[in-house]
Amino acid sequence: MSFDLSVIPNKNIVLAVTGGIAAYKSAILVRRLKDAGFNVRVVMTHGAQAFVTPLTFQALSGNPVHTELLNPEAEAGMGHIELARWADLLLVAPASCDTLAKFAAGLADDLLSTLYLATKSPVWVAPAMNQQMWAAKATQRNLNTLVEDGVHVIMPDAGSQACGDVGLGRMPEPEDLARQVTQYFHRAQRAIAEKFGMLAGKHVVITAGPTREAMDPVRYISNHSTGKMGFALAAACYAAGAKVTLIAGPVSLDTPNGVRRINVSSAVKMLEISMQMLDEGCDIFIATAAVADYRVAEVAEHKIKKTGDELNISLIKNPDIVATIAQQQKRPFMVGFAAETRNVEEYAAGKLVAKKLDMIACNDVSRPDIGFASDENAMMVFFAEQYQMQKRELEKASKQEIAQQLVEAIHDALHHEIEPV
Ligand code: C5P
Repeated sequence: MSFDLSVIPNKNIVLAVTGGIAAYKSAILVRRLKDAGFNVRVVMTHGAQAFVTPLTFQALSGNPVHTELLNPEAEAGMGHIELARWADLLLVAPASCDTLAKFAAGLADDLLSTLYLATKSPVWVAPAMNQQMWAAKATQRNLNTLVEDGVHVIMPDAGSQACGDVGLGRMPEPEDLARQVTQYFHRAQRAIAEKFGMLAGKHVVITAGPTREAMDPVRYISNHSTGKMGFALAAACYAAGAKVTLIAGPVSLDTPNGVRRINVSSAVKMLEISMQMLDEGCDIFIATAAVADYRVAEVAEHKIKKTGDELNISLIKNPDIVATIAQQQKRPFMVGFAAETRNVEEYAAGKLVAKKLDMIACNDVSRPDIGFASDENAMMVFFAEQYQMQKRELEKASKQEIAQQLVEAIHDALHHEIEPV
């Protein structure tokens, strides 16, 4: 299961294409909607078929194209009522003057106009026409009626038109339309997650990636952490309805959708920002960062020169970020990670107590198939004694799936009845 919110799973779009030169753009629109993860079925009016063939849309959508209302053969596949129920969105692009007029008048003399009346789904229209036809009083009157009826009108762009005119009436580019549709579903999905998600109403702060400890203006000490686990957790927490702040060391990963990211370099800076997050109000703190244990005692002001055969650099201990946060009076629910090469469970359980954590997830980084740079992970999760919860084994899976299971573990611990001892 993917928690990347840039891809919307299992949403159905009926794309209705009507007669106009912009119909060619709808072919690309199908591609973009499919890229974004939507299931697409195309309805074409007779006018649309004068511009593009149904075969084009069938090939691009991977589904038969619906063109007729009263054709027993076509209705045998998915009838107009089934199609109307299947749709999570009816998107009419391009929407011709004629279609807008039919919708406004409530006619039902072809497949699309019937579908419009039969569907409960939201309806979006992207009018595209000659600028004079757009400006016509009848068109504007029909649009006003549609808006009153709850139809969402995507305004046409201005510019040069296929007919040689210049003005309002161009259908927006397919990428732009696909983005608007995707954002609409994101917002709807987000509203549900914020209300009913496992971490609804929580502010989660996550540290991720390595830290960089400067030696001089050009060199540093760091490690191989990629930040993938922390970023996957940020996406999973957001999908679970939380507000998420990701304090990221230097990594080359895209910020998950909806997540606030604060880039840092050194461990000291990572701690400073983490403390600021406590002031802001933090409910859950997840420390996935591979923080450098030591930093250079005195960072050279200028580049260190190659002089003798040996170079001694004195290191001093970095603050332990997760342990410092755990010591604060108003502490959040604390989750730590432990990467070990041996005695994995024993060391992890020790860290849970030593760092005063509520939960710790540990993995064996000596296994070449999981851990640092891998896309997969396998973990053992321990809870602090007061939760009286059994340890959990998370079997090898993608970091996204592991992240989701960790969200569930956090949710369960937060809702666990703590029995009086
Ligand atoms: O002690 P160790 O580095 O193995 O502990 C790992 C856990 O402690 C991780 O959750 C890591 O993010 C956190 N940690 C920290 N600050 C440090 C060292 C580790 O927050 N200086």
